[in-house]
Amino acid sequence: MNPPETLLTPALGSGGRLLIGGDWREAVSGKRFPTVNPATGDVLLEIAEADAPDVDLAVRAARKALEGPWGKMSASERGRLLWKLGELIAQNQDEIAKLETLDTGKSIWESTHIDAPFTADVFYYNAGATTKLEGRTIPVSGPYLNYTLREPLGVVGLIVPWNFPLLLAARKVAPALAAGNTVVLKPAEETPLTALRLGELALLAGIPPGVLNVVPGFGPTAGAALVAHPGVSAIAFTGETTTGQLIMQNASRTLKKVSLELGGKSPNIVFADADLEVAARGSMLAIFYNKGEVCTAGSRLFVEKSVHREVLEKLVERAQKFPQGDPFDPKTRLGAQTSEAQIEKISRYVEIGKKEGARLVMGGEPARIGNGRGYFWKPTIFDGVTNNMTIARDEIFGPVLSVIEFDDFDQMLAQANDTFYGLAAGVWTRDIKKAHRAARMLQAGTVWINAYNLYDAASPYGGYKGSGFGRESGMAGLDFYTQTKSVWVDLS
Ligand code: NAI
Ligand code: MG
Repeated sequence: MNPPETLLTPALGSGGRLLIGGDWREAVSGKRFPTVNPATGDVLLEIAEADAPDVDLAVRAARKALEGPWGKMSASERGRLLWKLGELIAQNQDEIAKLETLDTGKSIWESTHIDAPFTADVFYYNAGATTKLEGRTIPVSGPYLNYTLREPLGVVGLIVPWNFPLLLAARKVAPALAAGNTVVLKPAEETPLTALRLGELALLAGIPPGVLNVVPGFGPTAGAALVAHPGVSAIAFTGETTTGQLIMQNASRTLKKVSLELGGKSPNIVFADADLEVAARGSMLAIFYNKGEVCTAGSRLFVEKSVHREVLEKLVERAQKFPQGDPFDPKTRLGAQTSEAQIEKISRYVEIGKKEGARLVMGGEPARIGNGRGYFWKPTIFDGVTNNMTIARDEIFGPVLSVIEFDDFDQMLAQANDTFYGLAAGVWTRDIKKAHRAARMLQAGTVWINAYNLYDAASPYGGYKGSGFGRESGMAGLDFYTQTKSVWVDLS
């Protein structure tokens, strides 16, 4: 199935092409690769496949754009262009949501109510930030004036994954541009469509050609070429931890600055004194939102012993009613996993879970929906999990929950923190002291109290430990994209 005609704007009209220097181009090699609709297994479009020569052209275009009008533009004017881009995203929200759902298999409800409007908001926030990137005057010793300037890095390479293709691209593109950089964006090979549309809307917003270049292609080729390119000053990456390690290693040759948003195995903790109805609902969404393909997914559910049975029952009841189906059905909340590789991975971990002695309470197998060739997996809950089992240690990145019982705060906390990762955590309790104590002691970049998966363009987000470093969103999100220059003046 091809995307409906109305979605085939020039960015995708002749199949997706590369956006380099404001032009839509075929790859130097002439190669194309298919992007698939995960709900049907059908090819959506054949996209031009960037490799090293295309990345080189994109980096050159981005460098040229730095020397053009973009480099001379006032912060206020940059802000107005970013605001305009936010407006164009908001105006085209339905069409963008459809593209995202076609490419990722996420429900149209999510892409319409979350991905598209949050993306617009990321541009609005960063539009306002352009004029707030201030230097300082420093009280140095001696007859000198010393002040700092916050300057852009130059050309920044952005590498994003497939779970929130547009939103995660925006969370890098918007602050990078707000700070005055130019960028080369490499979307994930599974989901290139909305990144190309973003590039198109940026041109329509009046952002000069070459400021945002989009080069779909594969990790080991296009991605690696961007990391290796001497003309790129920094790499901002979101994805798998092992890929992050490789990127850090490869970036060292050209001494690039890197920011890494990596995986997670986040603990979500329900105390006996919580509002159990609310906690069960929140915990269900914490793992099944976006089919569990969320780096912050609450995949380890710690439940206090005295309410373990009750919480599990409520959870299963809700999960059984959570509507799984055609991602384009407005009632669907659980769509298709983004790729066949994910189905294979989930299936492998479900077998490991069973073998290691966890009790499968529900799910644990693919779901047959539509033509039967889509990548659907039933919401899956394992009970009787211990924190040292593989399914409690590895990021599965699917709708698979591990329930772990606890009876003591300190023992639970030690286990919650006993993980390679440190991205997020949830705490459910009515005891305000316990809630804040847990928030302080949990080793995670984000802690939610009586809530889960809250985000805002204004609030910093990022990992502790193996979940990476660097913060996205908020003013903290702009730090990565600037460098500080210290200027001295002799006043004697
Ligand atoms: P990945 O980390 O390989 O891919 C993410 C991005 O990195 C893509 O754009 C890819 O093309 C690029 N990339 C891959 N290798 C590269 C290289 N050598 N140099 C430069 N760029 C490179 O993730 P993948 O393979 O798509 O998914 C595998 C697993 O990773 C998933 O099952 C999931 O567990 C985890 N993952 C976690 C994410 C998170 O946000 N926590 C996001 C995506 C995947
Ligand atoms: Mg990979």
